[in-house]
Amino acid sequence: MNEARPRGFDWHGRRHGKKLRPGLQALVDTLLPKLRIDDGRQINAIFQANTKDVWLEIGFGGGEHLAEQAARNPDIGFIGCEPYINGVARLLSFVDRDGLENVRIVDDDARPLLDQLPDASLGRAYLLFADPWPKARHNKRRFMNPENLDRLSRVMKDGAELVFASDHPGHVEWALEVALKHPDFHWTARQPNDWRIPPVDWVQTRYEKKALSNGIKSSYLLFERQPRTAINP
Ligand SMILES: C[S@@+](CC[C@H](N)C(=O)[O-])C[C@H]1O[C@@H](n2cnc3c(N)ncnc32)[C@H](O)[C@@H]1O
Repeated sequence: MNEARPRGFDWHGRRHGKKLRPGLQALVDTLLPKLRIDDGRQINAIFQANTKDVWLEIGFGGGEHLAEQAARNPDIGFIGCEPYINGVARLLSFVDRDGLENVRIVDDDARPLLDQLPDASLGRAYLLFADPWPKARHNKRRFMNPENLDRLSRVMKDGAELVFASDHPGHVEWALEVALKHPDFHWTARQPNDWRIPPVDWVQTRYEKKALSNGIKSSYLLFERQPRTAINP
């Protein structure tokens, strides 16, 4: 995917942390090439024929959420995007330990993949504890922005869920504002507990646990991709 990255994709995050232990490095060298998605257009061909749906996680960090969801939902194909190789290596260790066959990885920015995936190919997308870029001058780096919602809107099926969570109140407000302005997404909340309490099938992520241990509660925003026929009859 690196080579396919179109010019103009700015990147401000980190790609490497401390040197990987030999076991993790071996997984990066041997398992990652088998699971890496090089061409998002071929998505239907890479999962087993009995796969019922494909779900995406953008910025999976250490992969604990993705691995647990993949273990619970063996009939769903999972794509995880994460440019931070130490996080990718952790996900690979879960895939290897649990023998997960329904996980594929893009060890890169999610945006080029989103531009490759076929229309209406995803049943769910997770954006969990995305970098909040708290300084006002950096806000435009946030993944949740009109351009990326356009990308997601194209690749999400009618009725598919976009799940956003954050422990940063300013980022939550921002995400809500951006999504409410987008004609293709509908915020499903009807009462405060709908955004204060995580969905039933929730798996805590590392950043969520870190926030909780500091006494910070998170918010959970669920958006539904509106049916195309209702918007463009
Ligand atoms: C704050 S961390 C949260 C990680 C994880 N979701 C969690 O909750 O523990 C945000 C992650 O998003 C990744 N990220 C940032 N921009 C991204 C992009 N454009 N595509 C894919 N991943 C991205 C970063 O590398 C980082 O690991």
